[in-house]
Amino acid sequence: MQATRRPEVLSYNAAMKKLTLLGNITPAEFLRDYWHKKPLLIRQAIPDFKPLLSRDELFALVKSEDVESRLITHTGKQWEMESGPFEAVPPLTQKNWTLLVQGVNLHDDAADALMRQFSFIPNTRLDDLMISYATETGGVGAHFDSYDVFLLQAHGHRRWRISAQEDLSLVDGVPLKILKNFQPEEEFILAPGDMLYLPPQYAHEGTAMDECMTYSIGFRAPSYQELGEAFLESMIDTIDLPGRYADPDLKPSNQPAEISKTMLTRISSEINKVRFTSEDIALFLGEYLSEPKSNVFFEAPPALSRAKFLQQAKKRGVKLERKSQMLYRDPYIFINGTSFEVESDDLGILAVLANERMISAEKISFASDDVIDALHTWFTDGWLSWLEA
Ligand code: SIN
Ligand code: CO
Repeated sequence: MQATRRPEVLSYNAAMKKLTLLGNITPAEFLRDYWHKKPLLIRQAIPDFKPLLSRDELFALVKSEDVESRLITHTGKQWEMESGPFEAVPPLTQKNWTLLVQGVNLHDDAADALMRQFSFIPNTRLDDLMISYATETGGVGAHFDSYDVFLLQAHGHRRWRISAQEDLSLVDGVPLKILKNFQPEEEFILAPGDMLYLPPQYAHEGTAMDECMTYSIGFRAPSYQELGEAFLESMIDTIDLPGRYADPDLKPSNQPAEISKTMLTRISSEINKVRFTSEDIALFLGEYLSEPKSNVFFEAPPALSRAKFLQQAKKRGVKLERKSQMLYRDPYIFINGTSFEVESDDLGILAVLANERMISAEKISFASDDVIDALHTWFTDGWLSWLEA
């Protein structure tokens, strides 16, 4: 068996490599000095960067029901926001509008590959790549986000004004989050290939200086409330409390409306038998974080028998479809909201698929029957495709 037993051993150590993307510092230095702490402006993070999608390709994308998009226009203090799909966008000669296209990584291989350049941050934290298109003077106003963001300039120029201000109060009665008292402290003009990192809650305002496209690589950080509610919901079918309330020792009552102390104590002790283990939480977390968004659909390929699949896989290798989310936590593998408990050796090879999003043809030859069964099922569901054409 070629696969290493523990997935940790498989991951190469990228943390110590200086990256142009981060302004020639290492991911470890970036995380230590900037992540959640302070902004970082990186001139030419991607030298000679060219937009991955043309303006027309972007406008074609927002016609689809499967693509989440918003159109924002403003005149003076008046803000308007509309949700897609959009058959047409405002005229290009009209100033002051912004089209935000969420989750472009789900629809375009190059956008997915760009987002994966940020894989020094775990997939559990990576959300999506959003593209904003703006005509001159367009922008979404001064605001703050609850998540970290990398703002990569793709086309034209954008002026960013930013502030560490603590006053995050918002204007009432507008359809988007606009800061009441924005006090910019720094200002930069970004050209294609430049990138600005902003930590959560950092006030900012981007204004298009000309026709402008900005790519936001955004992160997810679920609230504990959201996690708690989803966890309890996921556990509902596992609760097992046998028996029924009984009171053979019941005494006559003068206050029939009162919940008696005896009843409360007895029921509390039964309900307090519900216990959650860290395994329950790991299973929930893997399924929850790998669950595709509601607008994600997979297309099943033409049916292929297991034998034919294996024959092809040994020649071509397999890769995760760009919409697939795969995670693991020993001994579990999670893919697109489902979980599997796997043998240690199988975990090794499946962790390669999760981390590198592909398994080479050569490695497939070493996979167990169980792994091939799983790969075949996922291929049939449209979650995997061939690595080599
Ligand atoms: C934009 O790119 O127009 C908005 C992105 C942001 O401010 O987070
Ligand atoms: Co923002």
